Amino acid sequence: MKFFVDTADTQEIADLAATGLLDGVTTNPSLIAKSGRKFLEVVEEICGLVDGPVSAEVVALDHDTMMKEAAILRKIAPNVCIKVPLTVDGLKTCKKLSDDGCMVNVTLCFSANQALLAAKAGATFISPFVGRHDDIGFDGMQLISDIRIIYDNYDFATEILVASVRHPIHILEAAKIGADVMTAPPAVIRALFNHPLTDKGIQGFLADWAKTGQTIG
Ligand code: E4P
Repeated sequence: MKFFVDTADTQEIADLAATGLLDGVTTNPSLIAKSGRKFLEVVEEICGLVDGPVSAEVVALDHDTMMKEAAILRKIAPNVCIKVPLTVDGLKTCKKLSDDGCMVNVTLCFSANQALLAAKAGATFISPFVGRHDDIGFDGMQLISDIRIIYDNYDFATEILVASVRHPIHILEAAKIGADVMTAPPAVIRALFNHPLTDKGIQGFLADWAKTGQTIG
């Protein structure tokens, strides 16, 4: 499963990229607002930090303006992936951009039928939002399972990008289902490394090692 980080904080992205485990980045207008930085500048900086796809979202609601915004974003770097909302105009834009060889991430997906439409529109990634689904009393992970079955039934190449991830269990469940990608906030990715028994084990080994009086090298 590919790991994307869901942030516009370039320091966090650089730190995670240094682990060698980061496959891409997703941003959205709220994350850009949180960064307090200029959209195009921050996307350009992120594209220089990772080789993989960097999702940058259009903010227009109509197809023509979406295409104009996408043209500006595409010029930033070859690894820019245009993010469009799951609307009629968004999918029309998705089809045009993907036919033109551009990566497209279709965002704000909340049903398996929406995911089916995005695949038919040639999306590179579909982003079902599991956390926001859970928030309103639905099972976000059931949505991922349903999309996996549908995409496998028809051999769609669209990758399932599990979004709105709130905790490590979301990532575990996504991996068990066979999602292609997950995007999570930096803190959730960092939490994956931790286990109290790992820390306890290291302490025990180091205490015993100190008793040997040896050094390596
Ligand atoms: C995905 O691309 C979105 O940016 C993101 O996962 C939304 O997450 P949220 O529901 O925590 O805002």
